Amino acid sequence: MKSGLEDVVAAETVLSDVDGANGRLIVRGISLDELVATSRYENVLRLLCDGFLPLPDDLPAALGRARQAVFAHVASADPAIVALPPVDGLRALMARLPDGDGIDPALQLVAAPAVFTSALLRLRNGLAPVAPDAGLAHATDFLRMLSGTMPTAQQADALDRYLVTVADHGLNASTFAARVVASTQAGLASAVLAALSALKGPLHGGAPGPVLDMLDAVGQPAGAPAWLDDALSRGERLMGFGHRIYRVRDPRADALKGAVRLLATSGAIAPARLALAEAVEQAALDLLKRKKPDRPLETNVEFYTALLLEALGFPRDAFTCVFAAGRVGGWIAHAREQALNGRLIRPMSVYVGPVPRQAA
Ligand code: COA
Repeated sequence: MKSGLEDVVAAETVLSDVDGANGRLIVRGISLDELVATSRYENVLRLLCDGFLPLPDDLPAALGRARQAVFAHVASADPAIVALPPVDGLRALMARLPDGDGIDPALQLVAAPAVFTSALLRLRNGLAPVAPDAGLAHATDFLRMLSGTMPTAQQADALDRYLVTVADHGLNASTFAARVVASTQAGLASAVLAALSALKGPLHGGAPGPVLDMLDAVGQPAGAPAWLDDALSRGERLMGFGHRIYRVRDPRADALKGAVRLLATSGAIAPARLALAEAVEQAALDLLKRKKPDRPLETNVEFYTALLLEALGFPRDAFTCVFAAGRVGGWIAHAREQALNGRLIRPMSVYVGPVPRQAA
């Protein structure tokens, strides 16, 4: 029995392959580097859903219309929902979307994290939600709905790269949750809500906020080695480093580091912030190599996610919602693959409790 199901194969998939030994992520036959360089999120959504959900030819426009349909539910965001942590507010609003296996419910689920997250963040700041513009690309509209102004091309491109980077990643905890629910033939909204609930945990989608807390605590590049050394001596983990499967560098970290550098050249990230992050990364890698020589610990996806989402204006308590905006494409594709090709997922447990007493 392996309580974390390590090395247990629980699904066959054509969607993505996480090659931990070689630091490679393949999404439907395309390496992540190529995908990030050439595709925008809508194309990756089509790629993921190919054969599982017949998406319309005018997918960007259809997704735009789905954002508009979803926006109608923003009116039901009462003060109690607005007061929740953003990921809980998002889950409460997404629970109002129709359940089913059709294209409309699926596109509304893809649209929802962008629409609801930006509306909830504006409402808690006393601002009116901004209605979607169906003619814009998904990432561009997400940033416009958040800030109320059109993002620069570099900002929209950076968010798009992020959404593409995190769209799918093998049988991670939230995707597994989606597949378990889909295996019962429940609808896509049920599968996506289960996945979102798994994503919010700090061991899965909740790590990038603490990366920023660490940068703030370090303060200055020169202070990084001593601060990190102290943290490791106290037995703490360095946020944004290490991974269950990757034994070499997480390829998503490189994809996002590239996006962060592009943002920095356009002035969207202060040079001092980038310099601090690079100093912390270098010091952390040096220390981890020295202090944990038996365990390869490299930069993971969350480290540069934190810088990127901060530069795009997302507050750190909403980072998980933005993660969901990308990963929802993977959840839906996996849920459909499971429902169409899989069986009811029903593992066994070993009973270790007391047994009934024998009758005298
Ligand atoms: N900083 C310091 N030490 C770390 C570490 C980190 N980020 N990640 C792992 N280690 C060490 C552990 O302390 C342990 O050392 P020990 O054998 O001396 O006790 C060893 O590496 C193995 O740890 P384990 O928990 O078995 O590794 P895992 O593969 O199950 O953990 C993570 C994977 C991601 C949970 C872990 O690397 C971590 O907590 N990272 C920080 C949080 C983070 O960035 N999460 C986002 C992941 S995408």
